[in-house]
Amino acid sequence: MALNELNGILTTIGNTPLVRLDKIMPRLKAQVYAKIERFNPGGSIKDRPAISMLLGKIQAGELKPAQSVVVESSSGNMAIGLAQVCRYFGLHFICVVDAKTTEQNIAILRAFQATVEVVEEPDPVTGEYLAVRLRRVRELVEKDPNAYWPDQYANPLNPRSHEETMREIAEALDGRVDHLLCTVSTTGTLRGCVDYVRKHGMTTRAVAVDAVGSVLFGAPIGRRLIPGHGASVRPALFDPAMADEVVHVTDLDCVVGCRRLTLREAILAGGSSGAVVAALEKLAPTIPDGSNCVLILADGGDRYLDTIYSDAWVNKHFGEVSHLWKDEPGPRVTTC
Ligand SMILES: Cc1ncc(COP(=O)(O)O)c(C=O)c1O
Repeated sequence: MALNELNGILTTIGNTPLVRLDKIMPRLKAQVYAKIERFNPGGSIKDRPAISMLLGKIQAGELKPAQSVVVESSSGNMAIGLAQVCRYFGLHFICVVDAKTTEQNIAILRAFQATVEVVEEPDPVTGEYLAVRLRRVRELVEKDPNAYWPDQYANPLNPRSHEETMREIAEALDGRVDHLLCTVSTTGTLRGCVDYVRKHGMTTRAVAVDAVGSVLFGAPIGRRLIPGHGASVRPALFDPAMADEVVHVTDLDCVVGCRRLTLREAILAGGSSGAVVAALEKLAPTIPDGSNCVLILADGGDRYLDTIYSDAWVNKHFGEVSHLWKDEPGPRVTTC
């Protein structure tokens, strides 16, 4: 059973739009395109690996409705992607999240009938939750013979699903993709895209956009406010050779990138989308005129209304910084 042999909502995964952004950096003499992954039915790029990691097992009869239990650690998009796929196939899903997971995401998971386990205490040494969440997943899987852990951090089907993402981009641009800017966490998206690029002899320069405070490329661990990109533990999928270049961005860079995307292009996007916009701005002086640059916008902004798009939240964490995006003409307000 391939994705195109399914019926129902899951057939709408993939084939997301690639749109040209003429306004985001008007002085850049290159074409900028955005792959808008919020159009996947679960709202993010993670729908692709979610279906990819489960479908083969369902097809082989290894995962059975009302009997098998899927267990994964994720506090955001992968959780929602898996919850949706499990609901469709009648599989029980236990999602291990942590105290930083938003109420909205927990509500979405519960709407899909997932069981949500919240890890309350971070690792005492690093102050991070990921290692504790993964320990809890192992415990759950060890005690239940019907449990399956897709393990997005190590499963090769995660990057393989993103070869399709790159195929869609390459075909839309007749194979001419000069720069690909992609955020990293499990590194599945970037690895899959780069695998496609190499298999097809493309000359695309792959730019990994990582968070300041993420350990992926050997930088010191630090506090990060914006979920999605970055990692506190280097995943098994990590391969340093997948990136031609690495750009680190701060939380504030993400906020500014997101706000500019909304004001200039009318795109309400998630934190890691702001990260790729910020990275493009940093790289702009090195991008040759006429290049095709593709930004992967991993999710939408609706899940960040209380943070990135809240003036009060931004003020609390960064002070008064609205001048960084307020060069834009605002809405006309008329009073009568
Ligand atoms: C919003 C967002 N952006 C970027 C990423 C990084 O993608 P990957 O795990 O494929 O490296 C994630 C991963 O969860 C994400 O949720």
